[in-house]
Amino acid sequence: MGKTSCNHGIELPTIAAGRVRLRSLTEDDVPSLFEIFGDHEVVRYWGHSVLPDLAAARTLLEDIREHLAQKTLFQWGVEVNASGEIVGTCTLASLDFENRRAELGFALAKRFWFHGYMAEALPVLLSFAFGEMKLHRVWADTDPRNDRSIRVLERLGFRREGVLREHYLIHGESQDAVVYGLLNSDWRLDGHQ
Ligand SMILES: CC(C)(COP(=O)(O)OP(=O)(O)OC[C@H]1O[C@@H](n2cnc3c(N)ncnc32)[C@H](O)[C@@H]1OP(=O)(O)O)[C@@H](O)C(=O)NCCC(=O)NCCS
Repeated sequence: MGKTSCNHGIELPTIAAGRVRLRSLTEDDVPSLFEIFGDHEVVRYWGHSVLPDLAAARTLLEDIREHLAQKTLFQWGVEVNASGEIVGTCTLASLDFENRRAELGFALAKRFWFHGYMAEALPVLLSFAFGEMKLHRVWADTDPRNDRSIRVLERLGFRREGVLREHYLIHGESQDAVVYGLLNSDWRLDGHQ
């Protein structure tokens, strides 16, 4: 997949998804990254700490680019067509091409929750992952208290596969992770292309 580019060797494709599109993140998106990952409510159930300032958001962008060059993580910005604003990101992480699997991640800035933007972005991303990228399995793990994330995964047809006990230290507290998985065959059986 992807086009070649002299800077990173690989570039993410832009993918249309209804009211939003998925596209590569650029320097101009650093303030949006800060709004998303600098919010305690957004990172509440994650093992990462909240971004403290714009400089940390810039470092995050550099990490995203570095991982893209290494083909270990593809992180798209979710841009609203009508406003051109980046409202969130979605990610294929832990990319393992040998086993044809990846870990799904997603986040929206708090003021864009309950608009259905991920509900539009993620089916298109999964069709790309199972289609063009030929992945066999996409999985996610989530904190059992993260109701919104669980709703997103279950709506997409992810199946609950098990619990990793005290897998994370979330802001100093041991916490289980619930593992969800979706196979290419599940996705096709559900009528997706
Ligand atoms: C997980 C997260 C992205 C979900 O956000 P969200 O807004 O609930 O998800 P969606 O964009 O799919 O929107 C769905 C909601 O919008 C509502 N909605 C409003 N207009 C809609 C529309 N036009 N189309 C679809 N849904 C719409 C839906 O009813 C649904 O709400 P409900 O679950 O109460 O029924 C968000 O809570 C988040 O960023 N959390 C922090 C990061 C995180 O924990 N990520 C998961 C890591 S595994």
